[in-house]
Amino acid sequence: MQYNLNIQRIAESNRMNIDFSNLPFGKVFSDHMFVADYDGTEWTNLEIKPLENLSVHPGNLAWHYGQSIFEGMKATKGADGTPLLFRPEMHIERLNASARRMCMPEFPADLFDQVIRTLVHMEKDWIPSEDGSALYIRPLMIAMDEALGVRASLKYKFIVMCLPVGPYYAKPVSLLAETKFVRAVDGGVGEAKTAGNYAASLYPAMLAKQAGFDQIMWLDAKEYKYIQEVGTMNIFFVFKDKIVTPATTGTILKGITRNTFIKLLNAKGYEVEERLISIDEIYEAEKSGELLEVFGSGTAAVVAVVNKISHNGRSIELNQEDYKVAPMLKAHIEGLRNRTIADENGWIVPVNMLESVS
Ligand code: COI
Repeated sequence: MQYNLNIQRIAESNRMNIDFSNLPFGKVFSDHMFVADYDGTEWTNLEIKPLENLSVHPGNLAWHYGQSIFEGMKATKGADGTPLLFRPEMHIERLNASARRMCMPEFPADLFDQVIRTLVHMEKDWIPSEDGSALYIRPLMIAMDEALGVRASLKYKFIVMCLPVGPYYAKPVSLLAETKFVRAVDGGVGEAKTAGNYAASLYPAMLAKQAGFDQIMWLDAKEYKYIQEVGTMNIFFVFKDKIVTPATTGTILKGITRNTFIKLLNAKGYEVEERLISIDEIYEAEKSGELLEVFGSGTAAVVAVVNKISHNGRSIELNQEDYKVAPMLKAHIEGLRNRTIADENGWIVPVNMLESVS
């Protein structure tokens, strides 16, 4: 179905004031945003307009009890300048899975498709062409009821903003395996992309930074033994004869980059195991020379190579100069994203001129 989006354009773009060769992650916003309201029954007031502040009541339920979910996706462009999306259908699927878990309304997939295409087409001059850069797209859904009783909101707002971004991690990351705090428990909300998961990570992450590490490696909440994920990424371990990544059994985010890498690795003949993997297994594999690489995957991070893991006072140092799989995956996904590598899986969605946007 074709929806009627009300489009108001900015009088003068702010793009000329931005230094695209030096883009920090998450600080520069493009000219326009999409906003819609859920009135308890359906999504209404579908609007693309100049980015502006929201006026929100202090009793807003999202602020008090955390009904807030989001996604992170990227637009790049091909040599001819056509904007390209990467597996957008996976993002709306995951957003709606987060919505169900957080007792929020789903957002129609066909409306999402129309909104993202229209907005990205309007913001196409904001897509950076520098290596490792992209237009980061941030869909966000928040509760909008004004009430202090603990309950699901009836009203919601859905927003999409766009940000030109450079690489999330400019250098290899060191990890501290966390032995006191946990990110997610069985039956909890670890699989949802919801604000509280990130809020809960801040204090342990601050302590890890103070101890000299870049990120936390989360372990399971029962035995502090099995690896879950890392900071804002999923994690992969490359052994001599296989590649292992923690299985998504409800406590970790179902990463779209993770899923992409598993498929690419399988297609290239690597054996990838999705299973429980303990921190002890990593230490033993390092001792026996079996462990070759550790890297994180995520939309924002793409591939982040790990150069150190510490756990209970013992450490592993890894030399990223020897890495082969992580740089291969990075080059492959970037090649897909700028169309210098053939897209055999139909993951790239070109955004052409829409009739509704002239
Ligand atoms: C992403 O990888 O897109 C994320 O959402 C991670 C982060 C910036 C919160």
